[in-house]
Amino acid sequence: MTRRFLFVLGSSRSDGNTELLARRAAEQLPEGVEQQWIDLAAHRLPDFEDLRHDSDHVRPAQGNVALLLDATLAATDVVIASPLYWYSVSAHVKRYLDYWSGWLRTPGLDFKATMAGRTLWGVTALAHDEQEVADPLVGTLSNSAAYMGMRFGGVLLGNGSKPGDVLRDTEALAQAKTFFAREAPLARFPYETE
Ligand SMILES: Cc1cc2nc3c(=O)[nH]c(=O)nc-3n(C[C@H](O)[C@H](O)[C@H](O)COP(=O)(O)O)c2cc1C
Repeated sequence: MTRRFLFVLGSSRSDGNTELLARRAAEQLPEGVEQQWIDLAAHRLPDFEDLRHDSDHVRPAQGNVALLLDATLAATDVVIASPLYWYSVSAHVKRYLDYWSGWLRTPGLDFKATMAGRTLWGVTALAHDEQEVADPLVGTLSNSAAYMGMRFGGVLLGNGSKPGDVLRDTEALAQAKTFFAREAPLARFPYETE
């Protein structure tokens, strides 16, 4: 299967540090790997409604939900490019992930079986110097991948506050060069042992 990367941009501003870092990493993808970029701020999702135990979700036929669903189903690799907001993913990204819960219950999609074995990656920019403050974001993505039976490639972290700052984070730029070449093992919950 040809690899196809979906980059889900979750910042509330355009051309921010997260996107800059994600684009640096994406530049290294081999030719022939397809890339699709979707900016959630430009493709707004309505508030997620939890219908799981009520009526069935139906497959959206049009609009941003359909765009994101189709792009997600078509991706071998989903890259969540979210700035660190309050130590976790941005609200745009959180809402996109909430939709996954609906898609898990949408008849005819086989969302879990389709996504199992595919790879989830993260890219984030944060203002804090100590990267461990991003552990909740890393945990959100890693646990979500484990729940979905997906592989997890880890999170590329870069430092910056105002747009462009991350281009001075030489360590992050160096890591971007090889980030997508990493092994991405099947994700495991923290309580699972080898
Ligand atoms: C709503 C909001 C919450 C933020 N929360 C954090 C945080 O918890 N930790 C941190 O280090 N930086 C935080 N920041 C700073 C951003 O992570 C930082 O400016 C980052 O470069 C933004 O990424 P972007 O340029 O891709 O939008 C926050 C910024 C905003 C607007």
